[in-house]
Amino acid sequence: MTTNSVAAIILAAGKGTRMRSKRAKVLHELGGEPMIARAVRAVAALEPNPIVVVVGHQAREVEAAVKFPNARFALQEPQRGTGDGARCALEQLPANFTGDVLITYGDMPAIKSSTLRAFLDAHRKRGARLSFISIILEEPAAYGRVIRDTAGKVEKIVEFRDASPAERAFKEINTGCYIVDFELLRSALAELKPSNAQDEYYLTDIVAIARTRRETIEAWVADDPAEFAGINSREELANMEAEIRAAVNQKLMAAGVTMVDPASAYISEQAEIAPDCVIGPNVQILGACKLGEGVRIDGTAWLSNVTVGPRCHLKLGVRAEDCSIGEESEIGPFAHLRAGTELAGHNRIGNFVETKKARLGRGTKASHLSYLGDATIGDDTNIGCGVITVNYDGYDKHHTTIGDRCMVGCDTQLVAPVKVGSDVYVASGTTIIREVPDGALVMSHHPQREKPGWMATWRKRHNDSPDGSLKRNKDHQKRVAE
Ligand code: UD1
Ligand code: CA
Repeated sequence: MTTNSVAAIILAAGKGTRMRSKRAKVLHELGGEPMIARAVRAVAALEPNPIVVVVGHQAREVEAAVKFPNARFALQEPQRGTGDGARCALEQLPANFTGDVLITYGDMPAIKSSTLRAFLDAHRKRGARLSFISIILEEPAAYGRVIRDTAGKVEKIVEFRDASPAERAFKEINTGCYIVDFELLRSALAELKPSNAQDEYYLTDIVAIARTRRETIEAWVADDPAEFAGINSREELANMEAEIRAAVNQKLMAAGVTMVDPASAYISEQAEIAPDCVIGPNVQILGACKLGEGVRIDGTAWLSNVTVGPRCHLKLGVRAEDCSIGEESEIGPFAHLRAGTELAGHNRIGNFVETKKARLGRGTKASHLSYLGDATIGDDTNIGCGVITVNYDGYDKHHTTIGDRCMVGCDTQLVAPVKVGSDVYVASGTTIIREVPDGALVMSHHPQREKPGWMATWRKRHNDSPDGSLKRNKDHQKRVAE
C-alpha cells in the first residue's frame, strides 16, 4: 500500500431549503453540536491535510462551528452545484499537492471514521484513480443512481431528476463520498458542464468523465446505509438524533450504567459515566459531564458540563451547569447549581438553594432556600434556611467569605463584600455588614416588643368575636354555598 498524502474536501455551502430555516442546514444540531462539526470530525480522523470546508450560506457561522486546526475554508458564492463547490475547494489546496482527495458532504453526519478509513484502504488496494461509496437501497428515493455496464463496471452516476424510468429503477445509489486522485479531480472538474435538470455543476459527472478516459473507477458498496443518511429535513434530523441517543444509551448500559427509562435519558456522546450509576427518568446530561461510580440521579435533572464525584445523590429536579460536585454529596430536590459552583465533597444542597461561583468546603451544608453567589465557604459550615449573600449592588458583584465550622443562622443576609471568620455563630435574622472575627457570636436583632391583648382589639375593630369565630363561620358558610 502506498503512503500517498490525503487531502479532504467537505461540501457545506448549501442552504438546505427543505429544512425551512434561516439557519444553514449544517448548523442545525445533532447530539448537542452542529452537524458540520460531526462531519468534520469523522473526516479528521484520517488526518488529511488540509481539510477544506466549502462554505456559502452563513459562511462565518459555519466556519466558527468547524473547530479543527487543519481546516481551511473556500467560499462558494453563489452555489452552482456540488462540482462547482469542489472546484472552489481546489484553490485552497497547496499548488504542489499530490495524492488523494477525499470528498464528503457536510449533511452526512452519521458517517464513521472507520468506514472512511476502510474506504481509503480499499481505494488504494485496488489501485483506483476514482472511488466512491455506494449503497443498495430498497427505496432509493431521490438519490443519484449508479449506472453499471453489462460487465458490471461503473459507467456513471445519474441524478434522480435527470434519470430515465429505467435508471430510476436501479437500487444502487451514490452516497456522496469520493476519493479521487488530485490530478484527475482537477482536470475532470474543469470539464463539468451544467447541462442538467438543475443547471448545476454536478460533482457526480466526474465519474462519466473518468470513464471516457479509461481510468480505474471503483464503487465501494458499504454495508450500513444508515451511516450515509443525508439530513435534508427536520424529520430526518429528529430521527438521527434519536438514533444517536439510543446508541449512547446502549453503550452506557453495556458498560454498567442503570437506566430506569432509556427512552427518557438524553446523554451526550462526550459524557463519561462510571459503572453503577443510576439514571432516573427524564434526565439530560449534556456536554462534557463526568459522573463517578455509583452516582444516583433520581430524575428530572439537567446537567451541562458538570463533574459529579462518586456516590453523589442527585434528588428530583437538579439543574447544574459548569460546576463540580465532590464525592458523596446530596443535591436537591429542586436545587440550582450555576456556573462556577465547586463543592469539595460530602456537601448537602437542599431544596430551593441556588449557588453561583460558590466554593463550598468539605461537609458544608445549605439545606433550604438560600442564595449563595460569589462566595467562598470553608469546611463543615452550616448555612441555615433562607441565608442570602447580597452580592450585587446594581453595578458590581462582590464576594462573601465564610470560614470553617460556622453556624450561619436562618434568614441571615451577608452584604458583600464581607468576611466571616471560622467558628462564628451567626444568630438568625442577622444582617452582616462588616467583618466578623473568628470564634464570635454575631447578631443584629431588633429589640422584641409585646402588646398584651392586641389581637382581641384588632378582631373587634373588624366586627369579629374575640377568638375570631364569627369570621371563621362566615367563611365556612360561604364555602358550603359555593
Ligand atoms: C447529492 C448527490 C447525489 C447523492 C446525494 C447523497 C450531486 C450532484 N448529487 O445530491 O448523487 O445521491 O448527494 O446524499 O452531488 N453543496 C455545496 N455547494 C453547492 C451545492 C451543494 O457545498 O453548490 C453541498 C451542500 O451543502 C450539501 C452537499 O453539498 O452539504 C450535498 O448537496 P445536496 O444539494 O444536498 O445534494 P443532493 O441533491 O442530496
Ligand atoms: Ca443531500
